[in-house]
Amino acid sequence: MSNAPPLNELTLRVIAGLKQTPKRLPAMYFYDEEGSRLFQRIMQLPGYYLTEAEREILTRQWPRLLDAFAPDGRPFELIELGSGDGSKTLDLCAAFAHAKADFVYVPVDISPHALNSLIRNFDQRLPGQQVRPRMGDYFYGWHRHSDTHRQIVMFMGSNLGNMDRDEALGFLRMIRSHMQEGDGLLLGLDLMKNPHTLLNAYNDPDGVTAAFNLNLLTRLNRELGMNFRLDRFSHYASYSPLDGAARSFLVSQDSQTVHSTRVDLSLRFEAGEVIYTEQSQKYNQAMIQQMAQDSGFAPALHLQDPQGRYCVSFWQAIKPAIVRHMLPNASHA
Ligand SMILES: C[S@@+](CC[C@H](N)C(=O)[O-])C[C@H]1O[C@@H](n2cnc3c(N)ncnc32)[C@H](O)[C@@H]1O
Repeated sequence: MSNAPPLNELTLRVIAGLKQTPKRLPAMYFYDEEGSRLFQRIMQLPGYYLTEAEREILTRQWPRLLDAFAPDGRPFELIELGSGDGSKTLDLCAAFAHAKADFVYVPVDISPHALNSLIRNFDQRLPGQQVRPRMGDYFYGWHRHSDTHRQIVMFMGSNLGNMDRDEALGFLRMIRSHMQEGDGLLLGLDLMKNPHTLLNAYNDPDGVTAAFNLNLLTRLNRELGMNFRLDRFSHYASYSPLDGAARSFLVSQDSQTVHSTRVDLSLRFEAGEVIYTEQSQKYNQAMIQQMAQDSGFAPALHLQDPQGRYCVSFWQAIKPAIVRHMLPNASHA
């Protein structure tokens, strides 16, 4: 019998993905300490317009959001799934606090590095704000802190785009199942646009996105005792205007075999073979409307940046009876 500690859920998912054809890795595996640091750099890249566009919407249009979250002045709980360092939400919370809104901010993230940055930033800029950070996987466990507060769940940064259609619907329905009628969901969603602009966002000339992608191999070497050589893999990004999906890959430069010293895993790569590392789905209005209907929400507010690159969409949880009525195609999801 081996004395090795049991493998955690994430590691099991990673191993299962690497055994698939094509080989895959879950997007959440990006965010070890170095990955979280690199993502903070990506958010500042000139070509990665998503962060700036989302920030612009939140900072300019926050009064409309506050009206939607608390039309009756009832206190609310702002639960942000995958908050990262919360830098954009900090601006939103600062505006809400200035308007004397009564709310608690609950950021949830698997990355301790990201949550520590968030706590530092909030302590410095909004020391009086109630913040209840939770470290963990947002797929598991859900805590409603108070029955007096309306729940507003935020899923920003176009994080939903990392899921394919079925995963996204399952995730949205999971969120809906924890809500009461009248609770709300705020989504940051990237919109379909010129393919050149999109490709540029995932393939910066300074190689920060490439380093972010290749860091997955460093993490595999460290955590699973693999012997990936980073110089034998390269970053490749694509965008397909037909289905609106940007996809990132790691491409094997030659035929090679990579082994693990810790788990029973040996991977054979042909020259040019890829590991599929990330999908970033882009949306249009019709897709957004359909997703809301199929998961038990009614879209209530659709805010865009002035250049129409990005949208922040607010959905309200509607009655289950209406959900059934509105779900003629539910079996397709
Ligand atoms: C693309 S970043 C976006 C961060 C932030 N929402 C923003 O818009 O800037 C994704 C964040 O989600 C976190 N994350 C990814 N999968 C997660 C999971 N299953 N549970 C909790 N956090 C997760 C990562 O650690 C990372 O901080």
